[in-house]
Amino acid sequence: MSEFLRIRGGIPLNGDVSVSGSKNAAVAIIPAALLGSTPSTIENLPDIDDVYCYRDILKYLGAKVDFKHGVMRIDPRGVNKNELPIELVSRMRASYYLVPTLMGRLGSAHVPMPGGCDIGNRPIDQTVKGLTSLGAKVDTAGGVISAVRGEAFGGNEVFLAMPSVGATINTMLAAVSAPGRTTIHNAAKEPHIVDTANFLSSMGARVKGAGTDVIRIDGGRPLSGSNYTIIPDQIETGTLMIAAAATRGDVTIHGTIPTHMESLTAKLLEMGVYVTDEDDVIRVRATGTLRPVTLKTQVYPGFPTDLQQPLTAMLTQAWGTSYVTETIFENRFRYVDELRRMGADIKIFERTAVVQGVERLRAATITATDLRAGAAMIVAALMAEGESKVGGIQYIMRGYEHIDEKLRSLGGEVEFI
Ligand code: EPU
Repeated sequence: MSEFLRIRGGIPLNGDVSVSGSKNAAVAIIPAALLGSTPSTIENLPDIDDVYCYRDILKYLGAKVDFKHGVMRIDPRGVNKNELPIELVSRMRASYYLVPTLMGRLGSAHVPMPGGCDIGNRPIDQTVKGLTSLGAKVDTAGGVISAVRGEAFGGNEVFLAMPSVGATINTMLAAVSAPGRTTIHNAAKEPHIVDTANFLSSMGARVKGAGTDVIRIDGGRPLSGSNYTIIPDQIETGTLMIAAAATRGDVTIHGTIPTHMESLTAKLLEMGVYVTDEDDVIRVRATGTLRPVTLKTQVYPGFPTDLQQPLTAMLTQAWGTSYVTETIFENRFRYVDELRRMGADIKIFERTAVVQGVERLRAATITATDLRAGAAMIVAALMAEGESKVGGIQYIMRGYEHIDEKLRSLGGEVEFI
């Protein structure tokens, strides 16, 4: 078992690379397959720990699951358990998507509170609100989310207090089984919401408006399994774009959806990076000095919180002062201490990081504190002179498929040790 990612920095990344399937779509679409009366085949799944975690959970529940070469075949007909042990769900946040899907299939679900990255307070009040608005009886006593369909289960108006990704997906997953019309107001608009809605539609559900802030679902229709290919990973694409620019490289990324990347592309252009796209290909080139920027994380289509960390790592090398405000998760600056150990000049004022560019980062042994902090450590190590060792790789393996091989194919000296 590897413990570190060893990275020799200071080498510009050059060449072509392909992006993998979306983690955050995968972890919603795999449990959604439980709602079908027949098997589903899901393609373009990333080879990452979160997907293996779901494979194990589905098998435990009684589904037949086969996962090879990015394709998962799920036959949900044997699913007969509606309870999960904490050991199986504590590894990832998205395990709570099993609450509406098991409830839809079996009438009730008992799922321990989700795990996932410790990036701040991650309440589930909006998921509870969504499910109870549809008439489900929900209880979270004792650290377990229990949901029972109940007599009154049916479509309704749901007003989310904030556009939460998790609450939008959970409400959508419940609403497809709830007879009648559900309207989700103030829905999240992230690409993985649209992809989950498209998968549900391919199963026979009526879901309209995903990608806008009002989603309408006509629920209670019979759903069958489907063959579906999930979208490319927006955050992996962004991480590769940042790594290319940070090392002053020239990288062409294939299999992307450029419109998903507009907020990052705008920031990179502002920094003086060349970004061009055509069809599903994005090319990122950087040569000279990087200019500083001011940015604030926002819900989609704003700048994603998941790219705040790797971009901040890159800003340590911009010529001047950048201001980065994190509005989504309050603990998403914990990785900054590691960057400081590499010589970065970053001060935190409440939710804003003030990043003063320095000439060079020093190689160091650093630790990822969560998945996207891992991306920040990789970007920093790729820029630093000398050999760095990045620990906490269990986080990186949760969400980045074969990141070592991909960076090596671009000329990076990167290996798991
Ligand atoms: N919030 C509430 N109440 C709720 C739900 C959310 O107050 O019931 C707040 C949160 O505290 C946070 C904000 O709303 O301030 C946004 O949370 P959201 O529910 O949108 O996040 P999530 O569903 O827990 C997903 C991604 C995260 C990504 C966020 C924001 C998945 C599995 N996870 O989390 O991805 O950072 O949306 O875009 O889709 C990652 O991939 O590394 C990751 C953490």
